[in-house]
Amino acid sequence: MHTFTELGVPRNLVESLARRGVTSPFPIQESTIAKALAGRDLCGRAPTGSGKTLAFAIPLAIRAGKGELRRPRALVLVPTRELAGQITDVLRPLAETAGRTVAAFYGGTTLNRDRRRLRSGVDIAVACPGRLADLVRQREIDLRAVDFVVVDEADRMADMGFLPEVQRLLDQTAPDRQTLLFSATLDRDVDVLTRKYQRDPVRYEIEERATEQGDVQHFFWRAERSARVGITSDVVRAVASAIVFTRTKHAADRVTGQLRRGGVSAVAIHGNRSQSQRERALADFSNGRAVTLVATDVAARGLHIDNVGAVIHFDPPASGKDYVHRSGRTGRAGADGLVVTLVTPDKQGEVRSLQRELRVPQRLESVEVERLAANASSGSAAAVPAVAEAPASEHRPRPPKSRGRRGQQHGGRRGRASRAPAPAGSSRHGR
Ligand SMILES: Nc1ncnc2c1ncn2[C@@H]1O[C@H](COP(=O)(O)OP(=O)(O)OP(=O)(O)O)[C@@H](O)[C@H]1O
Ligand SMILES: [Mg+2]
Repeated sequence: MHTFTELGVPRNLVESLARRGVTSPFPIQESTIAKALAGRDLCGRAPTGSGKTLAFAIPLAIRAGKGELRRPRALVLVPTRELAGQITDVLRPLAETAGRTVAAFYGGTTLNRDRRRLRSGVDIAVACPGRLADLVRQREIDLRAVDFVVVDEADRMADMGFLPEVQRLLDQTAPDRQTLLFSATLDRDVDVLTRKYQRDPVRYEIEERATEQGDVQHFFWRAERSARVGITSDVVRAVASAIVFTRTKHAADRVTGQLRRGGVSAVAIHGNRSQSQRERALADFSNGRAVTLVATDVAARGLHIDNVGAVIHFDPPASGKDYVHRSGRTGRAGADGLVVTLVTPDKQGEVRSLQRELRVPQRLESVEVERLAANASSGSAAAVPAVAEAPASEHRPRPPKSRGRRGQQHGGRRGRASRAPAPAGSSRHGR
């Protein structure tokens, strides 16, 4: 086990991390930071909530050069606005300690704000591809001096929906740039980015040991369509806070209204809401003003909210990868979590294929909210056993437990469980 100092992190950054309670590296950080500081390209896969953000934010803060007017030196590409904001918040104190400035660029905000920031100088840009491409077209930003690139959620960014824009942007960066790719599901979908934009990348795949008991329980419950809101309310009441995923924006709004009418505070986040509504919803859920966040897959990737008691798949996800990312909003950084998939009669076949893809037993159970509590105290095996997608090149223990504000406020109870499954293969999917 190395310390941050032994990995080559300068003292002022080590102190900045310690002020935020980060005192020793998590496994993905221990594996990758020294190589990234040595200038190597990296492909990093590690479970949801295992600390990938700091794995790239620390080397980024240290290695990013000083930009010039409208010419940043480093770029982080991400799929969603909220993730851009969150990564910027994690990165800013480190970058400022290293004498670098950071700004986030994403849609739903005024271009004037972006222009002002770029005119005052930005060393590190964290951006969603669409807005960044707009700024390039308007000649507000010039990417030619960018020699450090991170693509977070890289498999998502290699999806057909993002790939052409991502490639156009990366093509403008410096040819000798250092390029880091990260995701919890870094599969063959990213080969296209690796082949074109990386040189001899170091690959890290970190999973928890199969023998090790994890902390996230997975339930697949049979439920009639009309019963789902009631079950969801019961689960939320049992766990104190939950993220509820629906397939469509319309369903997210409908479920939010139904939960509220049943006395459960709920807020919604999806692509049809304005950016200020999205931000308010996330803030209300994060600080506990609402106990339920109802979301489409726009909130499935990367977002970290302390102590989310459960993830409920109100509608089953479209793929095993979506299941892993949605489910990964609970049980982060060593905390416990519960994942409940509600399976209506018409979705049973679809869920069986999903279970096959996840390599978990193809089993559906009847709803037993009481079991959530019973299993939490006994630690019995209601959890779905998980099988990893591919042999890992490194096996490391889980990061230590952490508890945040939300759990303390709500006294959210936790279950003991098995680790989250990984999908059996790569599958493309629309959204
Ligand atoms: N070394 C560390 N010590 C303590 N806490 C840490 C450490 N590294 C990361 N964390 C905390 O772990 C949490 C999860 O980290 P992060 O969001 O980077 O996960 P991730 O691997 O990117 O997950 P996802 O795949 O969902 O994006 C954050 O709250 C972060 O502050
Ligand atoms: Mg992440």
